[in-house]
Amino acid sequence: MKFEKNILCIGAGYVGGPTMAMIAHKCPQYKVTAVDINPERIEQWNSDRLPIFEPGLEEVVLACRGKNLFFSTDIEREIHEAEIIFVSVNTPTKTFGSGAGMAADLQYWEKTARQIRDCAQSPKIVVEKSTLPVKTSLAMERILTGDNDQVYFDVLSNPEFLAEGTAVQDLESPDRVLIGSHETERALKARKALVEIYANWVPRGKIITTNLWSSELSKLAANAFLAQRISSINSISALCEKTDADIAEVAKAIGMDSRVGEKFLQASVGFGGSCFKKDILNLVYLCRYYGLSNVADYWEGVVRINDYQKERFVLNMLNTMFNTLAGKRICLFGFAFKANTGDTRESPGIFIARQLAEEKAELVITDPQALENARIDLKDLDQDISYLDDPYKAAGKSHAIAVLTEWDVYRDLDYERIYRSMTKPAFIFDGRNILDHRRLFEMGFNVFPVGKAPLTHF
Ligand code: NAD
Ligand code: UGA
Repeated sequence: MKFEKNILCIGAGYVGGPTMAMIAHKCPQYKVTAVDINPERIEQWNSDRLPIFEPGLEEVVLACRGKNLFFSTDIEREIHEAEIIFVSVNTPTKTFGSGAGMAADLQYWEKTARQIRDCAQSPKIVVEKSTLPVKTSLAMERILTGDNDQVYFDVLSNPEFLAEGTAVQDLESPDRVLIGSHETERALKARKALVEIYANWVPRGKIITTNLWSSELSKLAANAFLAQRISSINSISALCEKTDADIAEVAKAIGMDSRVGEKFLQASVGFGGSCFKKDILNLVYLCRYYGLSNVADYWEGVVRINDYQKERFVLNMLNTMFNTLAGKRICLFGFAFKANTGDTRESPGIFIARQLAEEKAELVITDPQALENARIDLKDLDQDISYLDDPYKAAGKSHAIAVLTEWDVYRDLDYERIYRSMTKPAFIFDGRNILDHRRLFEMGFNVFPVGKAPLTHF
């Protein structure tokens, strides 16, 4: 079959895989391929067990895999054949050298740019899908045009706004699709080609175009704004605990102001995920680089409050459990950084488990999707940690339960049964405020929500 376009994505991770699957699903007239340097990942994309868990993803992949959606490790051949190349490789925080702990590590991204340049024999539209510092596309253009003056490359910025756990839904009906480009005649033609791909299913009014730098910066700023809302509400949750105000009531009162809006005001044990912290630190680094230290300090505060929220959650457990956790069995309900994903990158669970281990607590972890990753995250800890699928078994004999992920399954458990199986006095620390605190208290639990007065029997 002859396809209208050959689309490639380099990097078949949480973004590359689902994004390409959605394009293939909505556009049977295009051939869509995702490639990766990690052969195991590609093998999983081609198997019955996809490398990532996302509600609805399997159906989308199965509907088009082998027809117009392909996963491959043959990066060179695919670059050669593609007309449009998305780059969706990882851009983690740098861990070495100048900017360590703040700046984006661009080594994977730069290797990809060089590989595109070296393999291309016909004009390509190269689309930055990864989240990158402002002005990265300038560097991309310089790498692409050095040493290969036979081939013309157009560089576009098209950051991704999907959230994990709702990736399929977000890709299917995005709030907006953002495309940044230069304003030259050639660049506008490339931009039009990308707009046309999305226009197969996204209403034109939701596809917005900007200059390259606005597009790159909008992605960093969007994540910073979202994370800032969580740190704002979490900072107020600390004050609620001192004053007997209730964070749910306060959030509702604030969120009903249409200028503020109700979303992203759920107080929690802190935000996690691979991007919020990394992207804010990247923004902070950029501001410092441009001499804007006041702006940098402002955004850094968002990360500081998030660290504080995780720290005070553990300290609260320690203080209320009579200042010692040594030898006490503590059960963590959830380890994923949010519900409906198996991803644990930067999950508050990692920090909390490590702190509890420092206190010599005996840890039991349960999670419907994230146990495999939890084992990897904590493999360097000395003590034995139990990883159990069954939350009832996990909670049995424990002194305390800490709810760290808002999985629906934890709302509906038989807490009477759990209470009977626990060591007394039984504590529950609801780091997501998803449980019925009054009922738990009446069963006999000592209950510690976030941003609300505790309910205790002492
Ligand atoms: P990921 O680690 O899941 O996937 C990146 C993939 O790129 C990996 O499979 C890796 O093997 C591959 N890769 C690295 N170097 C390569 C190379 N030279 N050639 C081929 N493949 C290579 O990362 P992710 O979560 O998909 O994030 C990718 C980018 O998208 C990041 O910049 C991130 O900030 C951004 N982003 C992520 C999310 C999210 O929800 N995870 C959402 C929006 C934006
Ligand atoms: C976030 C953004 O929402 C996406 O738009 C963006 O594309 C993505 O980052 C990215 O660039 O990687 P994600 O991290 O997958 O998506 O998930 P979110 O729903 O944003 O949740 C992030 C963290 O904040 C989770 O730990 C979640 O539990 C926490 N959170 C969220 C709260 O604590 N309270 C809230 O009210 C909302």
